[in-house]
Amino acid sequence: MGKVGFNMTMSLDGFIAGANDSAQNPLGDNGSHLFTWYSIGDTEYKMPGGDWKFNISAASAKQLDKALSSAGVLITGRRTFDIAGAWGGQHPVDLPIVVLTHNPPQEWVNKPNSPFTFVTDGIESAVEKAKAIAGDKDVELGTASTLQQALNAGLVDELHIDIAPVVLGKGVRLFDELGKLPLVLEQIASVEGQGVTHLSYRIVK
Ligand SMILES: NC(=O)c1ccc[n+]([C@@H]2O[C@H](COP(=O)([O-])OP(=O)(O)OC[C@H]3O[C@@H](n4cnc5c(N)ncnc54)[C@H](OP(=O)(O)O)[C@@H]3O)[C@@H](O)[C@H]2O)c1
Repeated sequence: MGKVGFNMTMSLDGFIAGANDSAQNPLGDNGSHLFTWYSIGDTEYKMPGGDWKFNISAASAKQLDKALSSAGVLITGRRTFDIAGAWGGQHPVDLPIVVLTHNPPQEWVNKPNSPFTFVTDGIESAVEKAKAIAGDKDVELGTASTLQQALNAGLVDELHIDIAPVVLGKGVRLFDELGKLPLVLEQIASVEGQGVTHLSYRIVK
C-alpha cells in the first residue's frame, strides 16, 4: 500500500495562489511568481502528459522524477479542474485524476478514456477510491481544500512543499480551515533547487 502525500508550490507566506484566481488568471494576482522556478533552470524536463516542458535545475528534476515515479493517482478539487480547463483531458502528470465536486460535469462523466473519476461523497471516499486506483503506488493530494480536509480526517502521511521565494500577502491560503492543531511534522528532506526549496515532512500521528 502506498502513502497519501501532498505536493504543491507555496509562497513563503503560505499561499498556493494569489487573489482573484480564475480560468483567465489561473494562479491569481501575482501568482505566476510561484512557478518561476519551472522556467529558470538549465535542465529541460518533459512532463509525461501533453506537451509540457520545463526548464528547472538538476536538483529539481531529480525531485520531480522521484515524485512522478512513486505517484499512482492525483486528487484535486473542482476549482482547479475548472480553472485548468480539465487540462484539455490530459493532466501534465498523466495520471488518473480523482476530482472532488458537488456536481460532476456531465460532459466528462461518461467520456471514453477519460482520466477523471468524480467523487461527491467526501474526502474519505475520494482517498479510498484513489487508493484503489493507485494500488501499491502513492496517492497525491494537489489542492489546498483537499489537503485541509484530508488533514482534518487524519488521512495524510507526508507533505512535499516547494517553497517559492515570493510573499503574496493574500490569495488561497494552504494551511487554513484546520481543525486538528498543532500539526506536528518531522522533516525528512530539504533540497535546494534554483528559485525554489523543496521541503518534505512526515506527519507525526
Ligand atoms: N501552487 C500550486 O502548486 C498549484 C497547483 C494547482 C492548483 N493551484 C491553484 O489552487 C487553486 C484552487 O485550489 P483550492 O484549494 O482553492 O480549490 P480546489 O480544491 O481545487 O477546489 C475546491 C472545490 O472542490 C469541490 N470540493 C472540495 N471538497 C469537496 C467535497 N468534500 N465534496 C464535494 N466537493 C468538494 C468544491 O467545488 P464544487 O462545490 O463546485 O463542486 C470546492 O469549491 C487555484 O487557484 C489553482 O490555480 C495551485
